[in-house]
Amino acid sequence: MKVRPEKTAHFHITGVHRSMQSNENVIHLEEVSKVYKGPAGDIHALKTVDLEVKPGEFVGVKGPSGSGKSTLLNMITGIDHPTEGNVTVAGTSIVDMSENQLARWRGRQVGVIFQFFQLLPTLTIVENVMLPMDFCGMYKTKERPERAMHLLEQVELADQAHKLPSTLSGGQMQRAAIARALANDPPLIVADEPTGNLDSKTADRIFQLFEGLVERGRTFLMVTHDDNLATRIPRVLRVLDGVLYDDVNPDYVEAKKQDVQIPEGMNGVNGKNGVKHYDENRVAQGMA
Ligand SMILES: Nc1ncnc2c1ncn2[C@@H]1O[C@H](COP(=O)(O)OP(=O)(O)OP(=O)(O)O)[C@@H](O)[C@H]1O
Ligand SMILES: [Mg+2]
Repeated sequence: MKVRPEKTAHFHITGVHRSMQSNENVIHLEEVSKVYKGPAGDIHALKTVDLEVKPGEFVGVKGPSGSGKSTLLNMITGIDHPTEGNVTVAGTSIVDMSENQLARWRGRQVGVIFQFFQLLPTLTIVENVMLPMDFCGMYKTKERPERAMHLLEQVELADQAHKLPSTLSGGQMQRAAIARALANDPPLIVADEPTGNLDSKTADRIFQLFEGLVERGRTFLMVTHDDNLATRIPRVLRVLDGVLYDDVNPDYVEAKKQDVQIPEGMNGVNGKNGVKHYDENRVAQGMA
């Protein structure tokens, strides 16, 4: 089976979302810090992070294990709350929302692909994919199974639709989680190593699906350790010990071998709003 992102037109994701028409940030983090209380003391997982992501951007996130990548994603999706700072996503400040409000808001606005999938074990794969549609009342009830199957086809998993998650391989569960994240056609997709369990050929096809979503106006933020894929992402954030470094991806510029417009404030070590830009030498010397 092939990934066929063009077929998604049938499911109304060809048009640019209303929220995508303005130049407002889809993601805006202002001085966000996250401190976890551990038995051995406080863990500063994020340290005064600022971030602006515009509609239709494709943004990668890299960084060593334990550096704060998943914590950063949890702030953006409202899955966890910052200790300090403000988080605005798709025009809504989410830090003071209740869990109930957050769940409904997230269901429509953000597709989340979790690092460890978080599929519901008692539901079949196709039921897992239908869940966000049922929860938010999206699409007509009778359309939902067809839409879920279509999404499973796109991630090459239609043949596993009626199995329980526990009977699937890691890569299959990961693709089910991707299909579920796309269920409500969210304007923002946030993915934590979404291809980490896939072989390189499948990862490439799934990545093409993501690129297709970005071409159609979706905003995509994705943690990845895959350097080959990272060369295809225009902007890559780096998280090192809770500090966020933000820059145009030099590998992408090199791979494209063309003039890539460097946004204002992204060509130096100290950017606007105090955002730090990644400079390998300075970071290595502890200067950035
Ligand atoms: N719920 C939690 N309670 C306590 N500490 C936590 C919690 N979640 C994360 N941490 C700590 O915060 C830091 C950042 O963790 P995080 O999961 O964001 O890292 P990561 O960059 O996603 O790593 P990986 O690449 O291994 O997934 C780590 O030191 C981790 O141990
Ligand atoms: Mg993580």
